Amino acid sequence: MLNFEEDFTPAVAPRMAAAAPMPAVDLADTTPAPQARRMQAADKRVINGSTDVNQLVPFKYKWAWEKYLAGCANHWMPQEVNMSRDISQWKDPTALTEDERRLVTRNLGFFVTADSLAANNIVLGTYRHITAPECRQYLLRQAFEEAIHTHAYQYIVESLGLDEGEIFNMYHEVQSIRDKDEFLIPFIDTLTNPEFKTGTPQADQDLLKSLIVFACIMEGIFFYVGFVQILALGRQNKMTGAAEQYQYILRDESMHCNFGIDLINTIKLENPHLWTNEFKAEIRGLIQKGVELEYRYAEDTMPRGVLGLNASQFKEYLRFIANRRCQQIGLDEMFPGVTNPFPWMAEMIDLKKEKNFFETRVTEYQTGGALSWD
Ligand SMILES: [Fe+2]
Ligand SMILES: [Fe+2]
Repeated sequence: MLNFEEDFTPAVAPRMAAAAPMPAVDLADTTPAPQARRMQAADKRVINGSTDVNQLVPFKYKWAWEKYLAGCANHWMPQEVNMSRDISQWKDPTALTEDERRLVTRNLGFFVTADSLAANNIVLGTYRHITAPECRQYLLRQAFEEAIHTHAYQYIVESLGLDEGEIFNMYHEVQSIRDKDEFLIPFIDTLTNPEFKTGTPQADQDLLKSLIVFACIMEGIFFYVGFVQILALGRQNKMTGAAEQYQYILRDESMHCNFGIDLINTIKLENPHLWTNEFKAEIRGLIQKGVELEYRYAEDTMPRGVLGLNASQFKEYLRFIANRRCQQIGLDEMFPGVTNPFPWMAEMIDLKKEKNFFETRVTEYQTGGALSWD
């Protein structure tokens, strides 16, 4: 996307000013036209860069380009997943318990708005502050994936005939969901504020903090109770269409989280002065708060324990994930000694495209190059 407000050095200087008189052309003169120096990969920066954001190559941030390609290879659409079994289970009063139904509706109550929040954060916030074209390319793909996720949640709500007004307003009306969103809002506001500009140590730290909150806490912690719940249902042969969609979403989200972490670590590498002890302590405090909020949400969605899952397992799991997020961005573990109580989640994340765990797909997804037209 062209953005004429970007502050960048033109790759090719105009050969002459528009108002300059035309010089007489010497046809024998083979001297090359004067040009600005061509863009060098080494000059690129993830933030506060001054190279042309419209020039994807030469590549510097290959990790971002590779994630863009991997995201495209994982492309899927919600309506490819057959929901008929879920629909008949939802209608059958004996197929699901009341606790399981509450889990499904509260789960959707968080997710139906969460991915819109994520998309807006990317498009209206993060994107314009990132000056590496490879990273912008990935963010564009990520923004579309967030739209697909919102579509998927809506598709589930619609398929099951749930009360849309109730589900889509849970982020206002259910305290444990509202608390998670309210925690995120100030950090999203930083990025989307039209007055906000990077370029000072304070502003760059504010940007970095918001990126950490978004990747490590929102996508990296706040989604995980919800993912475990629906995937656990699917493992018990319940709501397998929804579970399959969550499995694809989980795969996308773990890529988003990994991209965010690479982005954060590259900004740290390019701007080591931002990573102060005080800043690290603040980040640890935010991760701690994120774990508490997500735990409260777990308790609220399943007050009595359900599906063989109980609150203490979720506490352990969230601490396990928080340790992993800390370690990924170079912080010490916050909860030493915890282990993963849901080792099967790793298999879910590592979903291979050809694998169809819940066997609900009508047809395997085909990429454009592999489409058959007959
Ligand atoms: Fe998403
Ligand atoms: Fe995401």
